[in-house]
Amino acid sequence: MKTIKVARPADGVTLITLDRPKARNALSKALLIEVAGALDDAEADDAVRCVVLTGDERAFSAGADIKEMPEGGIPMWAEAGRLKAWKSIERFPKPLIAAVNGYALGGGCELILLCDIVIAGENARFGFPEVKIAAFPGDGGTQRLPRLLGKFRAMMMILTGDFIDAATAQDWGLAVEVTPVDQSVDRALEIAGTIAQNSPIAVRMAKAEVLMAFEKPLDESLSMERQMLLWQTEDHDEGIAAFIEKRPPRFKGR
Ligand code: CAA
Repeated sequence: MKTIKVARPADGVTLITLDRPKARNALSKALLIEVAGALDDAEADDAVRCVVLTGDERAFSAGADIKEMPEGGIPMWAEAGRLKAWKSIERFPKPLIAAVNGYALGGGCELILLCDIVIAGENARFGFPEVKIAAFPGDGGTQRLPRLLGKFRAMMMILTGDFIDAATAQDWGLAVEVTPVDQSVDRALEIAGTIAQNSPIAVRMAKAEVLMAFEKPLDESLSMERQMLLWQTEDHDEGIAAFIEKRPPRFKGR
């Protein structure tokens, strides 16, 4: 049985909905592999310019599926199928927007940390409760959360396991906007629609460049920014021509 729904609600935009409502969208191995597969499809399809990822009104995702955790042996996050799925999600090169309602916990919050823009419904609750089951974030949370929020806020969340609400998440920079619950997906789709009108090649390069800020020393990423060959693309010529001719651009992604 499928654990996600994939739709194309607007030109250039794919909507992926996590669909295990009875398990609060816990990230089973099957679900992670389906999300990674849907993103691979979105990457391969030139018509897709942006992807929105969401859950339901009760939960974006309650995290790794605790019921799949083995009692012994290798930890679940070290299992090859899961690792491959997480890597695919991490490497998705097009913009990925999260529309978050309800719980976004543990691995669910780590999934959000791989998104590029986060819109939170007013009932969103973000947290890393792993310590309460004698674990700790195993899919990037211990590294990406402090880079995003700073040491003290990350420590507060990861060491206490307490949740923060949508307003705090926005204040701390974990969400860019807070909307009424029934509007978070629409707002994310609206942003996706705006991104979809921009040059796909420029958007893709811009995403890669911004992510470098978290990975490389400033000197290195600045020099890579300067080396980018975007100025030699057809899209760049089209963008300049459209501006001068006062008409909308027709970007081809070349
Ligand atoms: N894994 C598996 N099943 C889960 C789950 C999870 N992470 N979270 C919820 N469920 C299941 C519950 O077991 C329950 O199933 P049954 O109806 O069969 O009993 C169903 O979803 C509904 O859950 P609740 O009745 O608890 O619903 P609630 O709305 O009262 O509470 C909740 C929701 C706060 C999310 C609570 O379920 C909860 O605390 N879940 C666990 C959250 C958690 O610890 N996440 C971190 C997991 S570890 C991780 O992500 C990363 C890692 O690297 C180790």
